[in-house]
Amino acid sequence: MDYRRLRKNKAIRNYIKETRVHLEDLIYPLFIVEGENIKQEISAMPGNYHFSIDKLIEEAKELLEIGIQGVLLFGIPDHKDDMGTTAYCEGNIIERAIKALKKFVPELYIIADVCLCEYTSHGHCGVLCGSIVDNEKTLPLLAKAAVSYAKAGADCIAPSDMMDNRVEYIRKALYENDCQDIAIMSYSAKYSSAYYGPFRKAAHSAPQFGDRKSYQMDPANRKEALKEVEKDIAEGADIVIIKPGLPYLDILWQVSQSVHVPVCAYQVSGEYAMIKAAEQMQWIDGKKAAMESLTALKRAGADMIITYFAKDFAKGILTEY
Ligand code: PBG
Ligand code: ZN
Repeated sequence: MDYRRLRKNKAIRNYIKETRVHLEDLIYPLFIVEGENIKQEISAMPGNYHFSIDKLIEEAKELLEIGIQGVLLFGIPDHKDDMGTTAYCEGNIIERAIKALKKFVPELYIIADVCLCEYTSHGHCGVLCGSIVDNEKTLPLLAKAAVSYAKAGADCIAPSDMMDNRVEYIRKALYENDCQDIAIMSYSAKYSSAYYGPFRKAAHSAPQFGDRKSYQMDPANRKEALKEVEKDIAEGADIVIIKPGLPYLDILWQVSQSVHVPVCAYQVSGEYAMIKAAEQMQWIDGKKAAMESLTALKRAGADMIITYFAKDFAKGILTEY
C-alpha cells in the first residue's frame, strides 16, 4: 500500500494535488458578426454564439461578472475579397467591436486575433500570388490590421496567420504608431490541424482550394516548433501560443521547459466539439472530460489557456474528473 496512502481520501488527494486550473488562467473566444440584435448559437460549438456588437456588450458584461478576465476576438465580416480588405479597412468590424467593449466594459482584457482567412474570399490566411500565399505581400496587411485593433484599444494582438517574420513586422508597425504598450501573443507553433473544423464552419473561413500546409506546421514535427517559438520571441513576441492543445502536449511541455516567456495553450474548436458531441451521445461525462483536458494542459506547462469551456468553468458547471 505504498502509494495508495496518499490517495486514501479527498483531503489528502487535495493536499498533494500538483496542478489546479484557475478561472484567471482562462481566455474566452468570441465571434462577432455584422448587424443588430444577433445572438445565434454556432451549431458545431454548442454554447458558443455569433454576436452582433450590441449583444457582444451584454455578453462581455456577463463574462466579467462571472470572473472571466479576458477574451479573444474573431470577426466575421459581411464582405470578403481577395485582399481581405475588411480585416483592416477603416471602421472594420473588430475595430468597432473593440471601441464598444472599451467604452462599456473597460476592465475586460482584449486580445485581437490577427489573420486574413475570415476576410478573404479564397479563405487563405494571406494574399495570393497565383495559387501561392505570398508572404511579403501579406505582412503589410497584417500590420495594418494589428495597428487598427491596437489604436481601437486592444490590449494584445494575436497573429494567427503563420507567415514568416510577421511578429517583427507587426512589432515595428506598433512602435511606429505609438502602440508600444500593446502585447503580442503569437500563435508560434500552430499546426495544420483537422481540429479547426468547427471554427472554420463558424467563421466561414475554410480555404476554397488546397489547404494550409504551406504555412501551418506539419503535425509530425517537433523540432520545428522550438525553432518557430524561438524566432517569434527574438522578433518581439511577449507570449507564445501552442495550438491545438491536447494532441500537442509534448510540444507544450518541451516549449514551456525551454523558453522564458509565458506559454498559452489553445484548446481548439474540434477539441471542444468532440467533448460536447460525445457528451450528447452520453458516451462520456463531458463536464469531467473538459476539466481533465484543462488540467492536462496546465500540467504540461500552460500558463494560460484559450478555451470555449471558459464560461462553463466560470459558472462552476465543470466537475472534478
Ligand atoms: C485563423 C484561426 C483559426 C483558428 C484560430 N485562428 C483557424 C485556422 O487556422 O484555420 C482555429 C481556432 C479553433 O479551431 O478553435 N487563422
Ligand atoms: Zn487564418
